Amino acid sequence: MVEVPLNKFLKKMFSWLAIGCPQRQSHIRLINATGTLTRNMSTQAKLELDGKQFSLPTMVGTEGEKALDVSALRASTGYITLDDGYGNTGSCVSKVTFIDGDQGILRYRGIPIEELAEKSNFIETAYLLIYGTLPDAKQFKHFSDLLAEHQFLHEDMKYHFEGFPTGAHPMAILSSMINAASCFDEGLMNWQWGKLRQFDVYVAKLISQVRTIAAYSYRKSHGLPLIYPKQTYKYTANFLHMLFSMPYEDFELKPEVVKALDLIFLLHADHEQNCSTSTVRMVASSQANLFASCAAGVCALWGPLHGGANQAVLEMLDQIHKEGDDGSKFIMSAKDKNSGKKLMGFGHRVYKNHDPRAKIIKRACDSVLEKLHITDPLLDIAKKLEEAALKDSYFVERKLYPNVDFYSGIIMRAIGIPVEMFTVIFAIGRMPGWIANYKEIMDDPKSRIYRPRQVYMGKTINPYLGVDQRGK
Ligand code: CMC
Repeated sequence: MVEVPLNKFLKKMFSWLAIGCPQRQSHIRLINATGTLTRNMSTQAKLELDGKQFSLPTMVGTEGEKALDVSALRASTGYITLDDGYGNTGSCVSKVTFIDGDQGILRYRGIPIEELAEKSNFIETAYLLIYGTLPDAKQFKHFSDLLAEHQFLHEDMKYHFEGFPTGAHPMAILSSMINAASCFDEGLMNWQWGKLRQFDVYVAKLISQVRTIAAYSYRKSHGLPLIYPKQTYKYTANFLHMLFSMPYEDFELKPEVVKALDLIFLLHADHEQNCSTSTVRMVASSQANLFASCAAGVCALWGPLHGGANQAVLEMLDQIHKEGDDGSKFIMSAKDKNSGKKLMGFGHRVYKNHDPRAKIIKRACDSVLEKLHITDPLLDIAKKLEEAALKDSYFVERKLYPNVDFYSGIIMRAIGIPVEMFTVIFAIGRMPGWIANYKEIMDDPKSRIYRPRQVYMGKTINPYLGVDQRGK
């Protein structure tokens, strides 16, 4: 069979590439005076294929991340690279977020997540991600004013909400309605890639309106009347107001609840080239408008292996609780590949030490529950699960640690967020990261449409058979 030798050959090619790449200049910084990344022509990887020698330039990022530049590989060798799940593939050069998964580091525009969590707020962090620097007082006011100005949806959009059945998942409503917003806005319909003078207005519209749409999607899915945003409320307070107030009574905004939710938004604001951000970049690369690209991000985020994990964690803890298990039976089944179960909220493609967001959220969770005088049996189960998993060789050997979703669900439950809204909260939080990545692609004069290749393993030429000849 062709299949086995070819796969082996490609694997060999990769191991050869790894060995053939000299390490000696690995600490060289390749940022030139204008801040543009350049190829390192002095450190080349040698590649031998079909008896011929080829050189591949290397690149080193500002944090020492090393890459082989294969952009000319197919043209010069006829080969492409193959990397299931993209575990070894850099899809872009980015200046937004840095993660060191081995050391558990996460920084937005260079600022450690721990510092932002302590000193910043979601809106300031959103500005930082999108525009590259923390805003001064004037910039912050301008950004906040734009958010307040654009928080209302086009009135006719309300009729679209009516088309969804009661009980529809708010993530489905969210992605549909973000996309539908294009129908109500001429600028989005006639999107001018890279030449849009009013890009900042669309940034504010999206960040502000995603919150309004998210709240409406919850109200709609529960058959509740829609609540308009209040001009005087700040971002996160306004979301809680739209979510929980009634036409006859405003929801009581507890400062610790507003603060906890703002922290959750901030911790989710970006996470470099994950599944949903890569989706946004993929769609953006076709020059689709900002809202359409981010609506695609919402769809990608929904899956239980990505943003949907926070809902899945709560459902898992709830099931463990209902079954009267202290977690030990569940751990056994999560280790059994035939059980179809996983310890949700554990493991990460990039973090192989700890997820710094999980540490912050665990602390916040304890503090919120204490301040609100809440005791939650699910929190006790979560703690027991974590303790058991961190001692279990299955999880230790595979470097599986709690991720951001393990404790975020418990805080959200404590502050009254319904479980089906957990992933929606993640989507609101992730919006600045998606926008920052969109902007990065749009601002790059060299950006090209994303169009990966494949290794075709299907049938070779295959004649069309008439219906009477089929199945013989
Ligand atoms: N429970 C049990 N086993 C696991 C788990 C888990 N949560 N996660 C990974 N493994 C096992 C996996 O079966 C594999 O075992 P083996 O080597 O024996 O085949 C090994 O650990 C390596 O895992 P992987 O499948 O190669 O990991 P990945 O990088 O492809 O997937 C992941 C990462 C996050 C999708 C995965 O760890 C997972 O499904 N976790 C549970 C879902 C979850 O919490 N997702 C939220 C991620 S954080 C939020 C976000 O950024 O989206």
